Amino acid sequence: MNPLHWRAGGVSLVLDCTPPRLPRVLHWGADLGPSVAGLLDTARPQQVSNSIDDEVPLSLLPEHAAGWVGTPGLTGHRDGAGFSTSFTVYEVTEPVAHQLRIAARDAAAGLSLLLELEMTASGLVRQRATVTNEHASPAYTIGGLLLTLPVPTEAAEVLDFTGRHLRERIPQRQPFTVGTRLRENRRGRTGADASIVLAAGTTGFGFRDGEVWGVHVAWSGNHRALAERTSTGESLLGGGELLLAGEVRLAAGQSYRSPWLYGSYGRGLDELSARFHSYLRARPQHPRTPRPVIVNTWEAVYFDHDLGKLTALADAAAQVGAERFVLDDGWFRHRRDDHAGLGDWYVDETVWPKGLHPLVDHVRGLGLQFGLWVEPEMVNPDSDLARAHPEWILSTGGRMPPLARFQQVLDLGHGGAYAYLLDRLDALLTEYDIAYLKWDHNRDLIDAGHSPGGEAGVHVQTLRLYQLMDELKARHPGVEIESCSSGGSRVDLGVLERADRIWSSDCNDALERQAIQRWTGTLLPPEMIGAHVGPAVSHTTGRVHTLDFRAGTALFGHFGIEWNLTEASGADRARLAEWVRLYKELRGLLHSGTVVRSDHPDESLWVHGVVAADRSEAVYALVAMSTGVWSPPGRVRLPGLDPEAAYRIAPLPPGDRPEGPARNPLSWWRDGAVLSGRSLAVAGVQAPVLFPERLVLIRARVHSVANSII
Ligand code: DGJ
Repeated sequence: MNPLHWRAGGVSLVLDCTPPRLPRVLHWGADLGPSVAGLLDTARPQQVSNSIDDEVPLSLLPEHAAGWVGTPGLTGHRDGAGFSTSFTVYEVTEPVAHQLRIAARDAAAGLSLLLELEMTASGLVRQRATVTNEHASPAYTIGGLLLTLPVPTEAAEVLDFTGRHLRERIPQRQPFTVGTRLRENRRGRTGADASIVLAAGTTGFGFRDGEVWGVHVAWSGNHRALAERTSTGESLLGGGELLLAGEVRLAAGQSYRSPWLYGSYGRGLDELSARFHSYLRARPQHPRTPRPVIVNTWEAVYFDHDLGKLTALADAAAQVGAERFVLDDGWFRHRRDDHAGLGDWYVDETVWPKGLHPLVDHVRGLGLQFGLWVEPEMVNPDSDLARAHPEWILSTGGRMPPLARFQQVLDLGHGGAYAYLLDRLDALLTEYDIAYLKWDHNRDLIDAGHSPGGEAGVHVQTLRLYQLMDELKARHPGVEIESCSSGGSRVDLGVLERADRIWSSDCNDALERQAIQRWTGTLLPPEMIGAHVGPAVSHTTGRVHTLDFRAGTALFGHFGIEWNLTEASGADRARLAEWVRLYKELRGLLHSGTVVRSDHPDESLWVHGVVAADRSEAVYALVAMSTGVWSPPGRVRLPGLDPEAAYRIAPLPPGDRPEGPARNPLSWWRDGAVLSGRSLAVAGVQAPVLFPERLVLIRARVHSVANSII
């Protein structure tokens, strides 16, 4: 039997689907061209001493019963028995091109398995599995379900991410040696330290070079991802949900479905990321309206809610060109600070005697959309809700979990709690003209048991969250949702099946943001990454930055403002309005083009940009992250353009000015220049000298043929 060969977007996936074994991947990576003849035979390893007599296949769901001694795909038991499965494939169907369904059964274990595998037009591979219990009793308890994709031996380095509140998505690298690099999450939410992509690549792979393979678990609850290399030379990436003890027990006929595990391959991280970006943009639910300039009230007023102050802020926001006004935390009953009120989702009559109507009407009258902050899954012990329904709080063993930000977590697995939230959110969306919910989630789920039995509740909680968002979106089509969680702690493709953007971090310090946005971009395109201009002095680091550095950083995300503009100088407001105009001019390009990040040997100088899908133009930022190793900084490459076309490059105002241009400017900086896309990507251009923590923008536009230098 010939292997199955899928090709899309420069990627090949070759599968051996020969029944009765579960499918195994013979190749996942660069496009192999039309013929993969011979691969089946030549991929077969030699038998060596002291090994299993049969070949041990690394299938999509590796099985111990087949001799696999690495991490098994499915673990579970029935009161201690049935711990090891051996599935036999009985049906392989390709209902649609590049979509495969593999049905298998283990009669002895009393389980059936459905594997679903897809390849998207952009070359992403995704898979999920459904396990069904076919035996009457006892129930089958799932320990874990891990799906895998193999990577070649050439993948010699592992890249994953850690992070924390205010500094999400910090990259970390290590050699890919024999053993398991396991990233586990037990926070009950995706987590600031989650590895949004766990990747393995050839030595020294960068944004533009090297080969790299990465996986992402599309799940907002507990999860795990791993890179594993065995002593028999197999290397793989894998991931799935992390199930707590006894969390999923399947009675007869019940099923467990895993989250999607996504896999992306690229020549360089940029290509790996572009496959995620293209896939997300092609989904029907991807936001397609121009991403409006947001003004968010949080760092402007915090809990100081006052109609006069907020309408003045809205006026100032409208003047600089904002298009959406988001009322953050502090509007509901008892919420005068962060000690009380969560759960009481009624407008606070003491602060808002006429409800939110005067503010909403004012904002809408200015032509801005109105957005509202909520944190539905949370509850303060000091709230009417917690006093009325203590049994709706996730807890176990007759004790309460430790408080975090003075709050506990509402158990959405309780029908009453779910119905209450649906009712309150629905009522708010019905009463007010709300275009946008900022959906927050400010603590980990600890000791999260479902009462009265005390069963682990994170799995159900995650499913109910998705259900709640889906239900609200169905009732209120057009309402957008932002996934926020203490900043960027809920960034995953599970929540983003129903949310429209993420709040990437509570840190609006532009220097920190350069790094946070750069690495969040590994998974998400710029239009899904919330990026706000804060005040000159950062609230979370105390650093001081120019307005141009702050705005030029926010330009490369979904642009917003989080600054009390009523206190900003006239000059600052005028300058901010210029940046808003530029964002509006460029957002069509920035939110549809290809993200490029240049590898530069001096880590103090970052280059990133967006190239139009048709490569007719591009915008680049040159960012001085600190003082440089060299002075002048030398050449920088501007990648991603059509190598055969000629481009005019020129500085794009209103960026920071390079240091001392009047004294001794670069000639191309003063007059512009015309170069081929190949020259820009390979030879590069001399970078202007910049003060640290400043940036400049460069625009490249395809040059007329008559003036072409080619
Ligand atoms: C955490 C969020 O990330 C902030 O932007 C803000 O909404 C606060 N919560 C409000 O409590």
